[in-house]
Amino acid sequence: MEKLLAGQIALVTGASSGIGYGVAKALADAGASVVLNYHSHAESAQKLADEITRSGGAAIAVKADVSSPADIDAMFDACVARFGTVDIVVANSGLQKDSAFADMTLDDWQIVLATNLTGQFLTAQAAVKEFRRRGSRPVSKALGKIICMSSVHEVIPWAGHVNYTASKGGVQMFMKSLAQEVAPERIRVNSIAPGAIRTRINHDAWDTSDAQRKLLQLIPYGRVGEVEDIGKAAVWLASDESDYVVGTTLFVDGGMTLYPGFVGNG
Ligand code: BGC
Repeated sequence: MEKLLAGQIALVTGASSGIGYGVAKALADAGASVVLNYHSHAESAQKLADEITRSGGAAIAVKADVSSPADIDAMFDACVARFGTVDIVVANSGLQKDSAFADMTLDDWQIVLATNLTGQFLTAQAAVKEFRRRGSRPVSKALGKIICMSSVHEVIPWAGHVNYTASKGGVQMFMKSLAQEVAPERIRVNSIAPGAIRTRINHDAWDTSDAQRKLLQLIPYGRVGEVEDIGKAAVWLASDESDYVVGTTLFVDGGMTLYPGFVGNG
């Protein structure tokens, strides 16, 4: 059977670990050639690129700070030089710098906004320009697809994390406004909003049985998510199987946004 993303080229930011790593791997498994962007962990991005290449796919690792316009340009240039263009862009890079509100430094506010929100702006802008430059390709019904990595915290407030929630709340309206603007050109922009996915970013929330028990109270489906859960959603959103899905946030969260605290309460 033909793979769902055969012949397509994908670029994933923040692909050296966590959700980005899982998404890049899933897109490659679905037949896409992949540009794996990393910021600091060259070895793990290169390791994944080698793994994809060994199993018959194509991938390169490219360093870039997504908050730097020059880095973004260089990354898209490297993508076009190697693969000719790009069809699927996943703006995934994100980080947390948590603290109680009154203690939060301006630096910690700005760093989080720069990567999580400005990074998505710069990545998506470069994607739109490249889709327009190269025009239609027979590999997909859409001119191009952009997937923004959001979070359940685009809607769930989170004390102690105002920088992170402000960035993800921003991603929500950024994605929808951009989707509205470029849909007439057949560019599909959507978000995935993961819940608690087992990665380094939330290690403290699942690494002891006590922490995990507390976390599971927030997840009706009764398990912590895995990066593969997000990878599968990304493959679908990037493929023509979701061709009529435009400007939507797909929550992949085991029901976290169902407010389980209201069961028998309220
Ligand atoms: C955060 C994680 C958190 C999850 C659910 C994610 O966006 O990065 O740290 O576990 O939301 O609260």
